[in-house]
Amino acid sequence: MRLILLGPPGSGKGTQAKLLSSRLNLAHVGTGDILREAVRQNTPLGLKVKPYIGPGKLAPDDLVNEVVSERFRGDKRPERFVMDGYPRTLAQAASFDQLLRQEFMDLSAVILLVVEDSEIIKRLTGRLICPNCKRPYHLVNNPPRSDRVCDDCGLPLIQRSDDQEPTVRKRLSDYRANTPGLIGHYQPRGLLHEVAGVGEIEEIYGRIHQVLVQVGA
Ligand code: AP5
Ligand code: MG
Repeated sequence: MRLILLGPPGSGKGTQAKLLSSRLNLAHVGTGDILREAVRQNTPLGLKVKPYIGPGKLAPDDLVNEVVSERFRGDKRPERFVMDGYPRTLAQAASFDQLLRQEFMDLSAVILLVVEDSEIIKRLTGRLICPNCKRPYHLVNNPPRSDRVCDDCGLPLIQRSDDQEPTVRKRLSDYRANTPGLIGHYQPRGLLHEVAGVGEIEEIYGRIHQVLVQVGA
């Protein structure tokens, strides 16, 4: 199974990708997580993308394409995967198509999580993440079992630097600008499936799972 999750910041891509990955045994490729980790470790890639991530701007296509190509090269190439946060421009979608062609892989489905802006702001300003496994929590909607500590890793949760409201609005406007192009890219190929991204996390997982059953993935 080879999936792409599309959706605005805060639509639950990371939350659903983690569930899909553990329950269906898929590699979880989250470009935001990869880039933030590179920034945290001050790697050459991290130094290049740091000026983009903090203010909520998209990193340059060629850098992100290279990160993903790297992940799909060699022995560690995932056969079954869920993409979280990539591709998010048409240039990235074209590069990913080419990469998959070279590797003789077909996509199973592209899931578009639909969530309104007002809900996004509430979600992101209350989000906390685990610095180790990157699992997202929410102070109210999806709290950890113990106060601000990851259920899985036991580490104190942190807030993302780009989760301040003005930065979230900038990320949302980039998303709204780029997404029609992506929809136009995947819809004619019959790959695009819209899923309502509001409600209980398990309910949304159920909707995604239903799509996967429908398409025989
Ligand atoms: P990235 O990390 O991909 O951020 P994003 O797309 O803005 O998405 P988020 O991670 O903010 O939201 P999400 O959809 O994963 O939601 P989550 O599950 O956490 O990218 C960050 C930055 O990296 C970019 O701005 C850019 O600079 C760079 N970058 C990354 N990829 C790039 C690319 N391809 N090209 C260029 N630059 C790139 O959920 C959000 C919150 O809501 C959580 O608190 C969660 O607990 C809660 N929640 C989840 N589901 C529900 C629900 N059903 N009901 C209520 N609350 C819920
Ligand atoms: Mg995410």
